[in-house]
Amino acid sequence: MKGPIGVFDSGFGGLTVLRELTKSLPSNDFLYLGDNANAPYGTRSFDSVYSLTKKAVKFLFDYGCPLVIVACNTASAKALRTIQQQDLIDWGEDKRVLGVLRPITEKAGELTPSGNIGLLATPGTVRSDSYKIEIAKFWPKVNLVQKSCPMWVPLVENWELSGPGTTFFVRKYLDELQKENPAIDTLLLGCTHFPLLKDVIRKEVDKHITIVSQGNIVANSLVDYLRRRTEIDQKLSNGGNVQYLTTDSSLYFDKIGSRIVGNAIRSKTVFL
Ligand code: DGL
Repeated sequence: MKGPIGVFDSGFGGLTVLRELTKSLPSNDFLYLGDNANAPYGTRSFDSVYSLTKKAVKFLFDYGCPLVIVACNTASAKALRTIQQQDLIDWGEDKRVLGVLRPITEKAGELTPSGNIGLLATPGTVRSDSYKIEIAKFWPKVNLVQKSCPMWVPLVENWELSGPGTTFFVRKYLDELQKENPAIDTLLLGCTHFPLLKDVIRKEVDKHITIVSQGNIVANSLVDYLRRRTEIDQKLSNGGNVQYLTTDSSLYFDKIGSRIVGNAIRSKTVFL
């Protein structure tokens, strides 16, 4: 039976990826799951992120998604490989799960004229060193400096996207990063929540610095993947519908989620 593409994040961040996916694949059906009750994931242990992500991905498969996109860097860095290599075998080999790190690390070297990239991500993503390892494989000459930004996800989850408090915490991590390497010309937003802080970040860095969000890179990569993997594409339903699930208040999810995707949404609360 055909089904929607599942998109999963710890909370609202994955909606920045979903809005690009729906633009690139307008006739596909999507099912979004935000684990708002357990956000943020970025400060959690490896075991905790793996256990929560495994439950969420399984939930989306059981709901009928043949393909799940883990639109969360922390979960992609800490849980994806184990799910792909171990759990999928138990769940049925016809299922597919993809993350958000690979598409951006493949392109990283093309994004920086000087070869100096600054990565802004959650503590979990930074601690995993996944970006460093992957970028070194594709682009050995790129110099990557990482900065964990533990305050940014709570700011986004609470819709504090501007104002002096937000500017303070945005400035703080950017200063620390740029002090480590003043030659950085490209900032990778390695957390799907961070594009929502892009306006403040833009104001706080020099004009020559490029700020890269993942959404459209992930969307282009998925379009390409489905073109190559027709056996997966054939399992996806095409009604142009998008459904939303959250593990916390659907009222709050609808309020914030509608602002991110740009139209009114109505979610359902589920317990994993
Ligand atoms: N949005 C997620 C990411 O891309 C996780 C944020 C969090 O829950 O800490 O890393």
